[in-house]
Amino acid sequence: EAAEKAGFEHFMMKEIHEQPKAVEDTIRSVVKDGTIDFSGVGMTEEDMRGIRQIYIVACGSAYHVGVAAQYVIEDMAKIPVRVELASEFRYRHPLLDPEGLVVVISQSGETADSLAALREAKSRGIKTLGIVNVVGSSIAREADNVFYTLAGPEIAVATTKAYSTQLIACYALAVQLAKVRGEIDDSQYAYYVAELETLPEKMQRIIGDKERIQWFAAKQAAAKDIFFIGRGIDYAISLEGSLKMKEISYIHSEAYAAGELKHGTISLIENGTLVIGVLTQQELYEKTVSNMVECKSRGAYLMGLTTYGNYNIEDTADFVVYVPKTDPHFATSLAVIPLQLMGYYVSVAKGLDVDKPRNLAKSVTVE
Ligand code: G6P
Repeated sequence: EAAEKAGFEHFMMKEIHEQPKAVEDTIRSVVKDGTIDFSGVGMTEEDMRGIRQIYIVACGSAYHVGVAAQYVIEDMAKIPVRVELASEFRYRHPLLDPEGLVVVISQSGETADSLAALREAKSRGIKTLGIVNVVGSSIAREADNVFYTLAGPEIAVATTKAYSTQLIACYALAVQLAKVRGEIDDSQYAYYVAELETLPEKMQRIIGDKERIQWFAAKQAAAKDIFFIGRGIDYAISLEGSLKMKEISYIHSEAYAAGELKHGTISLIENGTLVIGVLTQQELYEKTVSNMVECKSRGAYLMGLTTYGNYNIEDTADFVVYVPKTDPHFATSLAVIPLQLMGYYVSVAKGLDVDKPRNLAKSVTVE
């Protein structure tokens, strides 16, 4: 097992480090000479032009990919997107547009609820696309079309590199839909593709800065509650950051859409409660900062996660992590890494079993 960990103490840390390569491989699988090609996935431009509604269905972190993708696809391709937990979708007798596309996202391709949701969609005659990591898995075999993420085998229960490659699959889908439907012109298309290709190197830089996060995380080991807040895509990032934290560090954590805090959750803020504000979306920046200030005035200890350049966050936050700039649609890919590292280092500081957290399974094949 030590050899398989390639010098890392845990699989999770190894897999965090494998992300730039996994993301690059996944980009290369569909981007050739600056053009996205979905023919390997089996979707033609005509198929893409005909889609009236997209339903994204998944569980756990894959669901959080869907939450981010919902914002990206709607904004770029102007197709309505609904994202839903597979365990809800399968039992609510969903009303599905016959010209819709059901996208099931799953690392293992075996999650029972996701597979059941796929079968439900197929039984209604709706087109389905699987975004799957494990080749030949049930969802990959049964979906009409498959986008294989090239994350390679993922061992740690808490997903990192598979999640990151699922995001890439969704971005590629969004950009391609936008192009074939005439929502973006050639120069915007070229810009998005080029921007996608910059992600691996930027991810590498964030991982290179991990010691700073280790230092901060080690001080949070005694935390009772942690709150993650953000708006729009920053809310999607918060959901995943919070899940990583609770899965492996056993600290109660919650993600809230920042504007919703004052409708209840703010009553839980006490002196010293850690609140992590995620601020990658420039147009929502001031709004989330003001929510952070509200938390601070109730005693919260604040961490800010934002892009280089937003240095005035230091007037508000007690600790700041900066990530490189990218197009805001793709910000999740970068901002999630410090949050993966936070969860990891808190877990290590508490002496927990990082790769095999209690009560959790890598793949949930029962209901
Ligand atoms: C389990 C794992 C999660 C994962 C979820 C969905 O709960 O612990 O990390 O996100 O299942 O798994 P899937 O294989 O469908 O992506």
